Amino acid sequence: MICLGIESTAHTFGIGIIDDSGKKYANERVLFSTKEGGLIPSKVADHHVEKFRDIINSALEKANLTLADINLISYSQSPGIGNCLRIGAAVARSLALLYNIPLIGVNHCIAHLEIGKLMSKAKDPVFLYASGANTQVIAYEGGKYRVFGETLDNGVGNFLDGFARYIGLGFPGGPKIYELSLKHKEKFEKLNKPVELIELPYVVKGMDVSFGGLSTNLKQKFDSKKDSFSKEALAFSLQETAFAMLVEVSERAMAHCNKSELLLGGGVACNIRLKEMCKIMAKERGAESYDLPIEVNIDNGLMIAWLGVLMHKAGGETKVEDADIKPYLRTDDVDVYW
Ligand code: ATP
Ligand code: FE2
Repeated sequence: MICLGIESTAHTFGIGIIDDSGKKYANERVLFSTKEGGLIPSKVADHHVEKFRDIINSALEKANLTLADINLISYSQSPGIGNCLRIGAAVARSLALLYNIPLIGVNHCIAHLEIGKLMSKAKDPVFLYASGANTQVIAYEGGKYRVFGETLDNGVGNFLDGFARYIGLGFPGGPKIYELSLKHKEKFEKLNKPVELIELPYVVKGMDVSFGGLSTNLKQKFDSKKDSFSKEALAFSLQETAFAMLVEVSERAMAHCNKSELLLGGGVACNIRLKEMCKIMAKERGAESYDLPIEVNIDNGLMIAWLGVLMHKAGGETKVEDADIKPYLRTDDVDVYW
């Protein structure tokens, strides 16, 4: 069975093609970007409308397949920005009707998790889902992927991007903050001195985290006239603090659920320092920390296709007339029947 998956929850329009053995045929994407300003939903939707044909064609070309070879269409049904989700759903319904192919709507967050299980050796992990809009600690218990902890305000990626924008770096900010943090670390290492760490608010409540106070404090420190904190020192200290919060709640969830695997996913999970900190924590408790290739950490169609395969093999299907969007559906609203 070959499935074509359509991702369109936010800035990315992606098409992935995979079969039921997990063999990847294609994973093409296009990202909405701006020179200035943020993401305006109607503009992103226009972008997806303009690009979807090219992305479908290039994925099929890469896969050396035609639509006649596709046995299942899967699309991101939830959660996300309504305007963007609607385009993916309309494309999915149109293909399903025109080519008479079964259709299935899937949850984007669970797709991140399931592609992670496919691509790593993790069997029953605690999943640290660290992306732009989402920051959650998820694990399977009692028929659902339960959210054990999450951010009480911004996602960690949006927090990184917000501070990066404030100090004059472009979007996406995460990789730029990482570069600055390296410069800071290398400067002290060259001098053979312990790396300077600025003390910042550290907010963990049970298995939840919050970045609002940290964000305000960083901006105040950046603006402060009397103490002159360098961008590099702030970037380094920001990462150490925010990632330590994520590692702490992940470890707490692993202990609570008695699980010995951690899986990292989402755009921020591309960060080398976060991966390293998770590996150290896992090693110290005799557990394993798995991370993923960039192409499946960031939003992509392949994960949508793979979750479609899993659900369809277990009998799942969405009728065309029911193939709507669910912008606010949560990870723990979904019954895991596959
Ligand atoms: P979701 O819909 O799953 O919440 P998203 O669209 O908000 O996803 P992703 O595409 O998963 O976000 O990830 C984008 C985020 O990842 C941005 O905030 C970006 O700054 C961050 N990011 C990317 N690479 C790195 C990196 N190396 N270090 C830190 N952050 C990174
Ligand atoms: Fe995502």
